Amino acid sequence: MEQIVEYLSQAKIAERVQELGAQIGRDYKDRRLVVVIVLKGSFVFAADLVRAIEIPHMRIDFLGVRSYGEGTESTGVVQITNDLSKPIEEEDVLLVEDIVDTGLTISYLLDLLHTRKPRTLKVCSLLHKPARARIQVPIEYLGFTIEDKFVIGYGLDFAEKYRNLPFLGVLQRAEG
Ligand code: IMP
Ligand code: MG
Repeated sequence: MEQIVEYLSQAKIAERVQELGAQIGRDYKDRRLVVVIVLKGSFVFAADLVRAIEIPHMRIDFLGVRSYGEGTESTGVVQITNDLSKPIEEEDVLLVEDIVDTGLTISYLLDLLHTRKPRTLKVCSLLHKPARARIQVPIEYLGFTIEDKFVIGYGLDFAEKYRNLPFLGVLQRAEG
């Protein structure tokens, strides 16, 4: 049996997302921002984040990525399942991720997007799990640093489940 224990409440997440959005709005004021949403995990976070960024010139694009099988360990192998719909050359690009765990996924994506010559390329991640870092990556906008726990909800899944939970939780295996 699995039990879900709340880790970060809806209210706490919402408050932090508003702060991040306001900060990004200030930093990219007068810029034409391309928000690149990394699917699938960050779709819920990104939907709230973009509505908290008050700038007139924003374009949104999606990058589909698969870095896991059904397990909870990063394989380091990143598969692009859906590429951007337009070039990003000379654009100010903000890559939006749900969580930076080992860092392998974001590192791969930064290398890939740099080859397309954006004007600037920065990272916004809701969560960071530094305990498991295998490669250091810059995260210019970070929601929360978390402990070494496998979290679910608010877009994050375990074997494709729990993405629709409105808060962030931790799965606990009840004995028996
Ligand atoms: P990394 O390559 O190890 O940094 O893993 C990044 C990806 O693994 C994230 O975009 C998530 O999709 C997934 N991931 C890592 N940790 C968790 C977790 O605690 N819960 C759910 N997904 C996770
Ligand atoms: Mg995922």
